[in-house]
Amino acid sequence: MSARPAATRRTVLRGAALTPVAGLGLTACRAGGDDRGAPLTEPVELGPESEVAEGGAKLYRDHNVVVSRGEDGSLTAYNTVCTHAGCPINKLDGNRLVCPCHGSEFDAGTGKVLREPAVAPLKPLAVEVKNGTLVARPQD
Ligand code: FES
Repeated sequence: MSARPAATRRTVLRGAALTPVAGLGLTACRAGGDDRGAPLTEPVELGPESEVAEGGAKLYRDHNVVVSRGEDGSLTAYNTVCTHAGCPINKLDGNRLVCPCHGSEFDAGTGKVLREPAVAPLKPLAVEVKNGTLVARPQD
């Protein structure tokens, strides 16, 4: 009979300990207080060039970069920090980027807004292939 109240106390304490953590996560997302939505400030190696097929795109969430390849083989890259309120975009559906915060959508190949509330296009990045590896960097 005494084990049951102890389990209840543990459950309550565990729940209380988790509540502030969840709250901090939401605050950081709204305020952009962490670096998840930080724009690219220096060159970064993304991965093998072969990961981006002709006519396709790949989202590199860890670096907030999307790379697209046109039918002619040309590469384009954009920073995937949403221009509405700075959330990192975490979903690529075909060539359509979808922001998890308020539902803005962008064209991965042009950076243009496909769905509001965002109104400004994504920031373009420079992208090149070095020894078979995609490298994105801020534009000069
Ligand atoms: S931050 Fe992306 S839609 Fe609001």
